[in-house]
Amino acid sequence: MKRYNILITGGNGMLASHIKSIFTKEGAHQIYCLGRQECDITEEVQLEEVVNKHHINIIINTAAYTAVDLAETEKEAADKINHLGVQNIAQVANNNDIQVIHISTDYVFDGKQSSPIKEEEPTHPLSVYGQTKRDGELALQKQHSKSIIIRTSWLYDGTHPNFFTTMKRLGGEKKEISVVNDQFGTPTYAPDLANAIRTIITHWSHGYNPNYDIYHYSGEGIASWYDFAQEIFFKLAIPCAIHPVSTEQFVRPAQRPKFAVLDKNKIKYTFGIKIPTWRESLQTCIEQDNLD
Ligand SMILES: NC(=O)c1ccc[n+]([C@@H]2O[C@H](COP(=O)([O-])OP(=O)(O)OC[C@H]3O[C@@H](n4cnc5c(N)ncnc54)[C@H](OP(=O)(O)O)[C@@H]3O)[C@@H](O)[C@H]2O)c1
Repeated sequence: MKRYNILITGGNGMLASHIKSIFTKEGAHQIYCLGRQECDITEEVQLEEVVNKHHINIIINTAAYTAVDLAETEKEAADKINHLGVQNIAQVANNNDIQVIHISTDYVFDGKQSSPIKEEEPTHPLSVYGQTKRDGELALQKQHSKSIIIRTSWLYDGTHPNFFTTMKRLGGEKKEISVVNDQFGTPTYAPDLANAIRTIITHWSHGYNPNYDIYHYSGEGIASWYDFAQEIFFKLAIPCAIHPVSTEQFVRPAQRPKFAVLDKNKIKYTFGIKIPTWRESLQTCIEQDNLD
């Protein structure tokens, strides 16, 4: 089994923290989980220095401009990170023969589908965030062949700012809230995705076919944001009423896809990854939260 030096970019973010924790517990590889200060993906020279200093074999790019609504008015800033930053990673990875796992999003689709979306289906982002993430995918695919792109959706955990922690907070503060009930997707527990990434890297470390490609990963099943909120309140026994509302009643700067359920068959069968249902993972998240 090969031992890798792995760089996790966006090291202070939600997903990065879980990837770091899983690999650190496993102890099979050397992990460099670096935040923007130490490794800014928009600074190609800095990135090259980091890669050379630590003899990096794999970059897991979780760094991103993730403020979906703000991106509508900060297009250049979002593009600089989600597109040009990924282009830098591709360039540096190419120069140094580094394998890349890059994280992308369901927001590259327009949500006009009615059945789980396969990797090969045409993209059509509705938002600046979605467009910049799609441009990042294309830049990586164009410049660097040794890469895997994982599109995911509705990421959450028990500690970082996300839908779960927001609902938990609002449920404690308010008697009633309104939640959108006509956008469908699947929540993804960040540690589940981190585990899937570990499985891919273990597969690589054994010398198996690396299967460079685009893959979809989210929890199993389907939910609206309203369903997700209801399940959170139910499992946490929070006595706050939830009113279902339409997207039109809950206007936000960035348009979201109405249907963003991802088809996960490719990642499941290629790497032997078993994906829990979103309800099972929510239970795990709550149990984990109670332990911490
Ligand atoms: N959260 C979701 O629901 C969701 C859904 C689908 C896909 N995704 C994708 O999943 C990935 C991980 O998301 P996440 O929720 O873990 O994001 P996150 O918590 O917002 O973390 C992203 C991290 O990237 C860092 N970053 C921003 N610009 C950077 C730069 N130029 N160089 C280095 N680091 C930089 C941020 O640092 P600062 O704090 O300094 O800005 C932040 O710590 C992202 O690619 C995102 O697009 C997320």
